[in-house]
Amino acid sequence: MKILFNQFIIKILPYLPFSIVRLVAGRYVAGETAEDALKVVKVLNQQGFSATVDILGEHTKSENNARDITRQYKALLSSIYDQNLNCNISIKPSHLGMDVSTEFINNNMTHLIETARQNSQFIRIDMEDSSITDATIQLYRKCKEQYEKVGTVLQAYLFRSENDLFKLLNKNRLNLRICKGIYRESSDIALQNRDNINSNYLKLLRFSFENNIYVCIATHDQYLIKEVYKIIEDLKIQNDRFEFQVLYGVPMSRCLINHLKNEYRVRVYVPFGRDWYDYSVRRMKENPNIISYVLRNIFRK
Ligand code: FDA
Repeated sequence: MKILFNQFIIKILPYLPFSIVRLVAGRYVAGETAEDALKVVKVLNQQGFSATVDILGEHTKSENNARDITRQYKALLSSIYDQNLNCNISIKPSHLGMDVSTEFINNNMTHLIETARQNSQFIRIDMEDSSITDATIQLYRKCKEQYEKVGTVLQAYLFRSENDLFKLLNKNRLNLRICKGIYRESSDIALQNRDNINSNYLKLLRFSFENNIYVCIATHDQYLIKEVYKIIEDLKIQNDRFEFQVLYGVPMSRCLINHLKNEYRVRVYVPFGRDWYDYSVRRMKENPNIISYVLRNIFRK
């Protein structure tokens, strides 16, 4: 019954009233402005969590817009520093102009790095769909040559990730987020079955720990988290060598309290911006239960 309901929700998503999408957005997006997002970050910090902020949007086609997004990220880094927040930034290469040209995105990243360097701030390069995996890894390498405090992401559903991880090992300590992967990818290049994705996730994680990589464990999957705990204990990994990461708004409170009790670091990914609509629809496709969940909470109030 639930599966049928979810399939139905996915079908009608394009026709959902704006107001429903806005309700969902209210839960998963920290507002439209940097000021809104940093208020949320401040509260998260007070609760013991660090954060990473992301300006929503992707596939910017115009040079002016991509330059403007780069400027917004630079201003964001300055505000984070001025407000003394425990927070870094996550950027999407296509948002900052990867679709325009390689030279253009490299240039924008160089500008962003100049600002980050002033106060020793960290930049995460998110991983988008497989059409730009190579370009994203190349961009990461280029940035890493210029600045130490840059990290990227690998997706456990891609067959290639194991090999990419192997190739990314080098003298400079890698700071890597591992996630399952959110884009729809074909079975020619990506695992489709949840159990297989989970085993590959754990394989990548174990390999990362064994090779002294700083790992960001980005998942809400309780099974996976239990297995991760076992690996941490098994390999006796110190708690300054990894962090758990979750998306803002995903109900994880009991699990997060447990992480904090174990003195494990937890970082919350906080998206904000005017492009909240596409992001919210993506979250709903990923988990159609969200709609009934949000509605239930509203009617309970
Ligand atoms: P899974 O999808 O199996 O979810 C486990 C359970 O968590 C679900 O059963 C549900 O109960 C709950 N849950 C998951 N998502 C939920 C939601 N939105 N709302 C409510 N409940 C939810 N992907 C990518 O391709 N590139 C990237 O750079 C990133 N970056 C990133 C950063 C961070 C901090 C996180 C947490 C995730 C990403 N992702 C990502 C997304 C990631 O690839 C993946 O799609 C989602 O995290 C969902 O996968 P889970 O591992 O959570 O497991």
